[in-house]
Amino acid sequence: MERANSIHLLNKAVADELQAVHQYMYFHFHLDDQGFRPLSQLFKRIALQEMGHLELLAQRLLFLKGDVAMVPAGPVETITDPEAILLKVMAMEEEGVRTYNKAALECAANADAASKQLFERLVGDEEGHFDQYEKQHDNIKRFGLSYLALQSFGGPAPEIASGPGE
Ligand SMILES: [Fe+2]
Ligand SMILES: [Fe+2]
Repeated sequence: MERANSIHLLNKAVADELQAVHQYMYFHFHLDDQGFRPLSQLFKRIALQEMGHLELLAQRLLFLKGDVAMVPAGPVETITDPEAILLKVMAMEEEGVRTYNKAALECAANADAASKQLFERLVGDEEGHFDQYEKQHDNIKRFGLSYLALQSFGGPAPEIASGPGE
């Protein structure tokens, strides 16, 4: 196993996860400010899951005797329109799925099964995030922004009711 290869891939993922945490919390703040509480809570819950990914990556990096490069992949984009936000995060999650699938294949080719499994787990989680964002986007498409406003009166939707930090 070539450790440097895995360490490089894992730190690239650390950068992407950090960027996602920052971006999703920014969206959480703005959606909350606009009164769309359930959607804003969804962003907070997924941001916490991305932080969990960061921790798994960090543990693997330290096991491989690398260090954790705590540098986000890019700056936060200052988007505040709910539909534009959802399009942005769907693209981010799709890109994550692509990147982590490739990383899993590279780790397999490099005989690093544990890192491969970690990337495969992340693929499953990011697909789940995409799915949740897409559902919200579909509903805005069908019912307009009033969907988000009405959602706010009815309390959190079931799928986001049990998130941490409520
Ligand atoms: Fe993630
Ligand atoms: Fe994600």
